[in-house]
Amino acid sequence: MSAGSEGGPALADTGITGEHIVAPTEAADDVLRVEHVSKRFGPVTALRDINLHLRKGEVLGLLGDNGAGKSTLMKIICGFVKPDEGQMVLKGEPYEPRSVDQARSLGIDTVYQDLALIDELSVFHNMFLRLEKIKSPLPFLANHVMRKEAREALDDIGVNIPRLNVPVARLSGGQRQAIAVARTVHSEADILLLDEPLAAMGAKEGALILDLIARLKAEGQVSMIMVLHNYVHVLTACDRVNLIQDGVITLDKPTSETSVEELTEIVVDEYRRARQAARAGR
Ligand SMILES: Nc1ncnc2c1ncn2[C@@H]1O[C@H](COP(=O)(O)OP(=O)(O)O)[C@@H](O)[C@H]1O
Ligand SMILES: [Mg+2]
Repeated sequence: MSAGSEGGPALADTGITGEHIVAPTEAADDVLRVEHVSKRFGPVTALRDINLHLRKGEVLGLLGDNGAGKSTLMKIICGFVKPDEGQMVLKGEPYEPRSVDQARSLGIDTVYQDLALIDELSVFHNMFLRLEKIKSPLPFLANHVMRKEAREALDDIGVNIPRLNVPVARLSGGQRQAIAVARTVHSEADILLLDEPLAAMGAKEGALILDLIARLKAEGQVSMIMVLHNYVHVLTACDRVNLIQDGVITLDKPTSETSVEELTEIVVDEYRRARQAARAGR
């Protein structure tokens, strides 16, 4: 059972496994709340009891081991995967997205870990993927307009992609990632979900994306959930950090109140427990 009554502590002991599960928390300026969300894939329980909230203008960092359920959670929020249980609240309204398109129409846009660019299409066509129909009926959407806007969006980030009419299959991982991020950031969305946006990037490209995120944060209009692996990135880019372990959130702290040391310690501990469990199961 997840403990934690209203107004109770953010960390609640389950008493069963000795682990901590973050109970539903909230703030007056929340744009999104996720409550008691669970998801199974056949025999695999990806998410058990997820509670999180996102405040307006906030950058929330989501950390966790491989397989912890981070991408599944992002996909539930963006309408790609349906949860088995639980509910969500978006800008004060009950939120049950039927599709990614519906989520997008409500202001949520996503950079997926598994990118979702179309290899055969050009850079600029990828940047306008799914947006064509919003702008105007396709025949009126001139290529040169798309190319110009794509160029502006990429220049804005500072990522160097010399030719926008080449198929994205020919680009490096970092360039592809930059396109996915630029596309999302230039959408009308006010909630961005970024699943490992720096994964395929070198330090220089990664720094450009982190700068872009800092700029968006300074503007204060967009709220973000970002899956990151590098603790230094988390502590510099995010306002708050949530740690997901085994399909539950076990830590919820402002980044100003945690440190690389604390986050490392928690994960070292997780490996210690995993090793013990593996031994016990032998
Ligand atoms: N579509 C799916 N079908 C079956 N299992 C899945 C599917 N998506 C995720 N899983 C499983 O759910 C668990 C969580 O995966 P995921 O959310 O991708 O973790 P993370 O992003 O934290 O690495 C993993 O065990 C993964 O294999
Ligand atoms: Mg993932």
